[in-house]
This record gives sequence, structure tokens and C-alpha cells, in this order.
Amino acid sequence: MSPRTPIGHDLIEQLGALEAVDAPAKAVAKFVRSAKAPAKVNEALSGTWLGHPVHPLLIVVPMGSWISAVVLDWLGGKEAETAADLLLGAGLAGAVPTVATGYADWSDSEPANDRVRRIGIVHAASNGTAAVLIARRGGRVYALADTCVHREGSLAQGELVGDCVKCPLHGSVFRLSDGSVEQGPAAYPQPVLEARVRDGSIEVRAPQ
Ligand code: FES
Repeated sequence: MSPRTPIGHDLIEQLGALEAVDAPAKAVAKFVRSAKAPAKVNEALSGTWLGHPVHPLLIVVPMGSWISAVVLDWLGGKEAETAADLLLGAGLAGAVPTVATGYADWSDSEPANDRVRRIGIVHAASNGTAAVLIARRGGRVYALADTCVHREGSLAQGELVGDCVKCPLHGSVFRLSDGSVEQGPAAYPQPVLEARVRDGSIEVRAPQ
């Protein structure tokens, strides 16, 4: 019997060779590690207490809630609107620890393996959590992680205010030059990347 190749095998191989994502991935991982919580919190995020990684278990909460909400929305009629809204809220609440545990797992393991780094960051990006915001100000180009460190608002949906960007969700304001917090509620600086214009293209890389 000839060996079988799983359906996603080729795609995973291609993602693992995707060097183009190394720069932003290293910057995000460096930031996540620098913001590390106490050992007890890390153990809780990693699943030490459970004997199993927590992230894959938590994924079912937002996914299950949102899929159920969509089905209710399509098929449930007017009477199901409240239930669908509740499910949407439950999914959003479940997404926060799901993302936190995912980043904790990935940032612990990515330095040891290029494939883990690349596949992990593409996985995060495909869930809408690892885009980069590019902004031009006074002839300069700036690059920041798009996902707000506070509660994951998209800074690209926000507003440029002077030399800062304002998050659309809760109004945190970050300096474009170094990501520092000009105004909360964010408690941590936003990760920044080095950006420059070369031959008409914008190049972005992790801070050296
Ligand atoms: S998510 Fe950006 S300020 Fe809350």
C-alpha cells in the first residue's frame, strides 16, 4: 500500500518555507515574550495544570458560538435574534483567552523552529490578529502591529492623530515612532517594526 499524503500537507510545507513572514513574526514574538506574565499565569495559559495545551480546547468556544449564531440568524427567524446575539457575545468573550493561549504557546516555541514561527504567524494572521499597520507622516513611513495590545482592536480602522494612531475600540493612542502609549486604557506599548521606502516599495522588518 502506498503512503497517503494528508490533504493539507502541501499547504503546510509551503507555509513552513515562507521566509517573508519572518520579520513581522519575530517582532510580534519578541513583544509577546517581553510582556510575559508571572510564571503561574504562563502555566495557566500553557495548560500545565490540565496536562494538555489549553489553546486547542478553547478554540471550540468562539467557533461553536459563532457557527451556532449564524445558523440561528439564517434559520431561526425573529424569535431567535436574542439568542443569536448572546451567542455572538459568548464567542467574543471566548476569543480573548483563546488568542492569549495561542500567542503564549507560539511565542514559547517559535525561536527553536523556523517552520513553527511561520505556520503560527500565518495561522494568527488568518484569524485576523497579525496584520501590520503602515502609516505615512511628514515624509516618513511607520509600521506597527495592527492588533491593539489592549483588546485586539484593528488600528487600521482607527484614526491618525498627529504623530499617533488612535484605536477605534476604546481610544488608546499610540505613538507611531515607538508604539509608546500616549493615552490608555492600553497598559503596554504597541509593537513597532522598522519600515522604509525603497524603489517605490515599502519594506518592513523586525527591529535590529
Ligand atoms: S482594543 Fe484598542 S484600546 Fe481597547
